[in-house]
Amino acid sequence: MKKFYTTTAIDYVNGAPHIGHAYEKILTDVIKRHFSQRTDDAYMLTGTDEHGIKIQKTSQEKGIEPKAFCDMNAQKFIDAWKLLDIDYSQFIRTTDDYHKKTVQKIFKKLVEKGDIYKHSYKGLYCSGCEAFLSEKDLDEDGCCPNHKKKPEIVEEENYFFKLTKYKDAIISHIKQNPNFIVPAFRANEVLNQLENIEDISVSRVKNNVSWGIPVLDDDNQVIYVWIDALSNYITALGYDSENPSDKFKKYWPADVQVIGKDILKFHSIYWIAILMALELPLPKHILAHGWITIDETKMSKSLGNVVSPSSVMEAFDMKEPDALRYYMATAAPIGKDGNYSDNDFKEKVNAHLANSMGNLLNRTLSMLVKYFDGEIKEEFIVNSELFEDCKKTIEEVKHHFNYFEVAEASQKIVELVDKTNKYVTDNTPWTLAKEEKMTQCGEVLYTVLEIMCVVASLIYPYCPNIAQKMAKQLKYDINTKLDDIKTNNIKVGKLISKEEIVPVFLRLDSELADKGKK
Ligand code: ME8
Ligand code: MG
Repeated sequence: MKKFYTTTAIDYVNGAPHIGHAYEKILTDVIKRHFSQRTDDAYMLTGTDEHGIKIQKTSQEKGIEPKAFCDMNAQKFIDAWKLLDIDYSQFIRTTDDYHKKTVQKIFKKLVEKGDIYKHSYKGLYCSGCEAFLSEKDLDEDGCCPNHKKKPEIVEEENYFFKLTKYKDAIISHIKQNPNFIVPAFRANEVLNQLENIEDISVSRVKNNVSWGIPVLDDDNQVIYVWIDALSNYITALGYDSENPSDKFKKYWPADVQVIGKDILKFHSIYWIAILMALELPLPKHILAHGWITIDETKMSKSLGNVVSPSSVMEAFDMKEPDALRYYMATAAPIGKDGNYSDNDFKEKVNAHLANSMGNLLNRTLSMLVKYFDGEIKEEFIVNSELFEDCKKTIEEVKHHFNYFEVAEASQKIVELVDKTNKYVTDNTPWTLAKEEKMTQCGEVLYTVLEIMCVVASLIYPYCPNIAQKMAKQLKYDINTKLDDIKTNNIKVGKLISKEEIVPVFLRLDSELADKGKK
């Protein structure tokens, strides 16, 4: 595999980022970092979605110019992702000039092709969804089931996209590629939605929606926010139908596009149809993740339970985001909903990262110093049975990541750490040392340290700072590709002195956390 291109949904900037948004970006970053250990070049795109009626209204209510409002809020997303060490390659804003120009060209191309036409229309518009809904989408009160608000009746002459033209092709693509939509159980849902699709409105009258990209050659119409937003995945790379950039040629099609389950329809139907109309290759996978709830309830402004990533980090006095990244990335099996609770967070990361993993490295290095003055001796050999197990874990982790099973993959790492802990308990190197069986004692310590190199590599996508601290103490190159990991990562000779041993992760202190919140 030469390259790996992954994208996230681009967030609406009508508010600040919460841990639901963070979940998606962490998940994508973990996937990107894992594939950077398997390819020459992994590229991750994220960004913000800044046009549409929702942002127009919110900025108006605040009495701020829409662009200034977007600037202010986009910065909050940029800051949050920095805090969480999201290692994106590019951040796109749909108000960026290059994006707007390309979207206009895309729209024009589809008009010229005859896939976009003008049509008078009356429909029900939900500004929360930024979408027209049909009667049967509504709940018993006539409200949008997602936003619990009555949609607005809109009667306009708009441009329409011939979605129906691509219906059969999309259906057969989904049927022929059972892993196209991940998790696979969502494919049926999409196939059902496809049964009833109609052509969609892809513009709004400027008098009603002014905050958007104008249609070229038709000043009265503004391009529908979803056409604008979805195009970001290719405009970011420099897509141009006449003269595509090298970056576009290199990275497109995307290997996986990560989104929330609420916007699967837009990505597995609308987006795919647009790509077909543009005669472009399709992404290899669309990954629809589940919801993050807080203490088992949906996050919402009215409930006042919206949790931001920075507030969690402050509450637990965290200097590095690794624990939160680990907790979020492993919050749920892929596609299922996950929950955040302070208590569960603290318990899980203390158990996995501090007690099991961190302590294992710390204890082993300390014994190496105590019994061997921190030196790996020529005669130490790695327990081949255990290391074979360890190699198997690498393959299992890779296998899970092939299906983007980020939480399941982490479980394999935890199992490896547990098994290694058991190996230490069973072989009691401290007793071996007391009995002066130094070669055997050395074998146990060396084996554990060799395995910890692998653990550092495997945990790196989730916990990059912890992994680097582990690697530093092991004098191990954290940039080692997974397929290049061998048995003897650690060289014979002095490895470490007492002063160089540092804990890789400090337990989250519950009292500190409580204090922070008050
Ligand atoms: O939908 N748990 O933006 P958005 C998990 N701009 N994920 C969540 C979540 C939660 N509680 N809340 C939101 C949009 N998300 C469009 C996308 S893409 C071309 C345009 C996820 O700010 C949500 O599912 O409403 C989506 O994937 C992302 O955050 C942005 O949501
Ligand atoms: Mg949303």
